[in-house]
Amino acid sequence: MKTLVAYFSAQGTTAAVAETLAKRLGADLFEIRPQVPYTAADIRWTNPVARCNREKIGKKDVPVAGTVANWESYELVYLGFPIWYYGAPNVINTFCKGYDWQGKQAVLFATSGGSDIGRTAEKLQPYMPGAKILKARVLQGPEGLDELLG
Ligand SMILES: Cc1cc2nc3c(=O)[nH]c(=O)nc-3n(C[C@H](O)[C@H](O)[C@H](O)COP(=O)(O)O)c2cc1C
Repeated sequence: MKTLVAYFSAQGTTAAVAETLAKRLGADLFEIRPQVPYTAADIRWTNPVARCNREKIGKKDVPVAGTVANWESYELVYLGFPIWYYGAPNVINTFCKGYDWQGKQAVLFATSGGSDIGRTAEKLQPYMPGAKILKARVLQGPEGLDELLG
């Protein structure tokens, strides 16, 4: 099955998982990068006016740099991200809205500071109409991949 691993990572943890996953699957890799990269100050969630909090509260779209080439050729998409505020970061919603998910299978994977995946799949599904989400898991790091793939 032609497989894509698409991920967003602000601090590198999810990137490490995504890179290992893509290697193990022999899948293509796409980094979901915001057009305006996050600085350390932007993701300081303890600051009420930090960019991450303004985006979250305002339910703002976060435009993505670049596009996935030959999107229509993928049957299975692994979508990875850090858990932000118990769910997927807004940039993931924006990414999902940009593509046709009809008939695709999807697996969600995340890293977090301790939160579980919660209702992330249910919350993302409206942005991926027609996709069948097979699994959704939080991993501690690349060593957790067996659970995702098993
Ligand atoms: C804005 C923001 C919100 C976060 N919210 C949560 C959260 O709700 N629960 C949690 O366990 N971790 C939370 N974290 C921690 C990240 O999920 C965790 O550090 C993750 O592994 C970072 O992945 P990355 O290095 O790929 O960006 C948050 C981090 C940031 C920057």
